[in-house]
Amino acid sequence: MRKIHPSEITPESIYHSRRQFIKSAGILTGGALLLAACGGEAPSIAPAPTATLLKPGPTLTGSMDELGNPLTPYADVSGFNNFYEFSLSKTAVADLARDFETSPWAVQVGGLVDKPRTFDLDDLMRFTQEERIYRLRCVETWSMVVPWTGFPLATLLKEVEPTSNAAYVRFETLSDSERMPGLNTGGFPWPYVEGLRLDEAMNDLCILATGVYGKPLPPQNGAPVRLVVPWKYGFKSIKSIIRIDLVAEQPTSFWSAAAPNEYGFYANVNPEVPHPRWSQAQEGRFGESTRRDTLLFNGYAEEVGHLYTGMDLKANF
Ligand code: MTE
Repeated sequence: MRKIHPSEITPESIYHSRRQFIKSAGILTGGALLLAACGGEAPSIAPAPTATLLKPGPTLTGSMDELGNPLTPYADVSGFNNFYEFSLSKTAVADLARDFETSPWAVQVGGLVDKPRTFDLDDLMRFTQEERIYRLRCVETWSMVVPWTGFPLATLLKEVEPTSNAAYVRFETLSDSERMPGLNTGGFPWPYVEGLRLDEAMNDLCILATGVYGKPLPPQNGAPVRLVVPWKYGFKSIKSIIRIDLVAEQPTSFWSAAAPNEYGFYANVNPEVPHPRWSQAQEGRFGESTRRDTLLFNGYAEEVGHLYTGMDLKANF
């Protein structure tokens, strides 16, 4: 496939403001747990209209999310990445992952299911692929608007028929230190593991993505298949998945194991629950020079708020 040069997509002014944002946000790229805390004024945000999230795929058709926010340029989506298996430096991941071989690939789905099964790439592509334009909000307070291509996780889970004892879904990333140089970074509880409650996993917003911007996912974005859970902080959206298990107990996720007091299991975007070391009330959107208010559940409260009725969101952070 022809490589798209960033200048073909991104106007210079956006590049400029992105650099400005990165500079003013003081984003750190070298330290495992030294994630960025940022300050600044944010503009007020209009109330969210009802979301129109489904768009036909797999070629890119949309240009904004349902709140009217423009897409973050492809160059930023594919050039500024958290993927610790390759590097702790967000701008180094794309180069280091360039030759990462993602075919053949197999996703083993098992645990508490009646029909365990291994899905290869053709199997995954047989699910009807849709375009979903979602906001991506990182726990570090930067955010993007990304046009994913993929399919609801629920459609895959229904095929394996979870048993009545299944209450959670556990996801695991490939862990191959010969192909993923960041795995040699000491002090992390590899492999990267994430989890969802089964009802969260079955929510229609939760997808397995196979593409971005109408193209196959590049390795740095989690090829060939990654989770996208748009109402949670980005670290829940686990990349390059090789195993999905239905389990009875809440799984321990990578970041909860690494720093349990800082990263909880739920990780719902919530302006009122600060990270222990910084506020989550505001965020810096790529391409914008002023900070904006963070929306509860990243603006998807209407679709997912009912999942948390009666729950203490501060205790279950
Ligand atoms: N998945 C794996 N396996 N390893 C990672 O380091 N980083 C997470 C998430 N998924 C990560 C991962 C974090 S912190 C974020 S913000 C998103 O991926 C970033 O996704 P993007 O690079 O596509 O923007």
